[in-house]
Amino acid sequence: MTSKQECNSNISPESCLALIRKSLKSKNMDSEGGHFDGNMPHLFVVLGASGDLAKKKIYPTLWWLFRDNLLPTETVFYGYARSKLTIDELKQQCHQYMKVKPEEEERYEQFWNLNQYFAGQYDSRKDFEMLNQELLVHERGVPKANRLFYLALPPSVFEPVTVHIKNACMGQKGWTRIIIEKPFGRDAATSAKLSDHLASLFSEEQIYRIDHYLGKEMVQNLMTLRFSNRIFGPTWNRDNIASVQITFKEPFGTHGRGGYFDTFGIIRDVMQNHLLQILSLVAMEKPATVHPDDIRNEKVKVLRSIRELTQDDVIIGQYVGDPEGTGEAKYGYLDDETVVNKDSVTPTYALAVLNINNERWDGVPFILRCGKALNERKAEVRIQYRDVPGDIFEGKPKRNELVIRVQPGEALYLKLMCKTPGMTFDMEETELDLTYGSRYKDAKLPDAYERLILDVFCGSQMHFVRSDELREAWRIFTPLLHDIEESKIKPTQYKYGSRGPPEADQFLREHNYIYSGSYKWIQPSHL
Ligand code: BG6
Repeated sequence: MTSKQECNSNISPESCLALIRKSLKSKNMDSEGGHFDGNMPHLFVVLGASGDLAKKKIYPTLWWLFRDNLLPTETVFYGYARSKLTIDELKQQCHQYMKVKPEEEERYEQFWNLNQYFAGQYDSRKDFEMLNQELLVHERGVPKANRLFYLALPPSVFEPVTVHIKNACMGQKGWTRIIIEKPFGRDAATSAKLSDHLASLFSEEQIYRIDHYLGKEMVQNLMTLRFSNRIFGPTWNRDNIASVQITFKEPFGTHGRGGYFDTFGIIRDVMQNHLLQILSLVAMEKPATVHPDDIRNEKVKVLRSIRELTQDDVIIGQYVGDPEGTGEAKYGYLDDETVVNKDSVTPTYALAVLNINNERWDGVPFILRCGKALNERKAEVRIQYRDVPGDIFEGKPKRNELVIRVQPGEALYLKLMCKTPGMTFDMEETELDLTYGSRYKDAKLPDAYERLILDVFCGSQMHFVRSDELREAWRIFTPLLHDIEESKIKPTQYKYGSRGPPEADQFLREHNYIYSGSYKWIQPSHL
């Protein structure tokens, strides 16, 4: 690997590595391999290499990390899947997602030259032994080498594959880490079964459960905002905050993913993991240190203070086509040909109100809201403050809101009241705005997967889900999910491209979120 390339941030590769090491030191890590073995061989194995996740996310991420010299210098990549493929065919499959610039062609070839591919069954120990033989070839003659296995696989093969890794593929010359993505089961019982299975094979330090929202810039920013600014701490409680809303909206339907989606639904797909993870970072107490276990201990504590949800706490919806819409918007969820069950009652929209029963938050509704085929793409946290007590302005002040915009267009803005500039003594709503696109014009914000995969190389579990967090998350949602499924409750219909089921607005009002409609934040770059 040449060291002449520059990182995207225009600093030398050596400085990149130095920065990463510095950041790792500051993360105060002493857990297994809690450091970056920059010069040691690493073998990265993508299981399910021919699948969708691998070609759309994992290979592109590995390429970007390699391109920017962020990986240990001697990293090699192995793809494993059932299909018989050559490296060239794999490269073709991935190509459109790799975003290669013309000037990067040479580097791109170097990346693929470090790749190998093996066809094998997921339930065959023999095939995994053969994979191991290939890995050993690379490790021959070196004193140390680490192995990483990324399970880009359907959950139906998680169990056999992990057994075979354990029996046939564990590294003998360094650490072995397993990266796994949702679905981690589909309810409390199935998730516990998977957790027990993994725990029987690997230690918690070896398992990296990805929730890719934990790799997003503004989600990672939550702790810094809360715990390094005096201004927020004293007001971050039930005395000052009326409600907290955590929103995920997508302007497209399930098209093509109906097979997976129909058995899971939006609550399992987005709410129980991504939104609940954000909630725990917004609501947790300050951890003793920034050590991954101190942080996750606090996250678990918050989750333990939330009771199981019931149907009264939620609104669920399913999108239907908009006859006046264009293209995809004409079609509803049930028109998606990958949704086989044409009577499906799987929700594509959900709004849930959670109460955290502790001294800080008792009585403050935490509203989680997510949906597909809505009017816009947006993920944000909206903290709405209470009305000003003893108002002297005849009801004119609107509530303050602190908005942490996760995507698109990372931003932080605080809605507040201000005297209308000029002669008048009137007032108006305005904002203090920190839009990253304007303030940090040249900053390159890495993709969530880039951060997270690099964290695995480094041994930092700060942004990964621990098994007890997962258990608590399933505890909160399982009774509701079972209830919805058993009673086959029909979700409210909402039109493709709309704001969701109309009754959601009323529900929000009932839960102390006031939408005045008198003000709209316009991102500065759009002015
Ligand atoms: C995934 C869900 O976890 O997150 C998808 O399975 C969803 O349904 C996706 O579209 C959203 O991720 P992002 O990063 O595009 O917001």
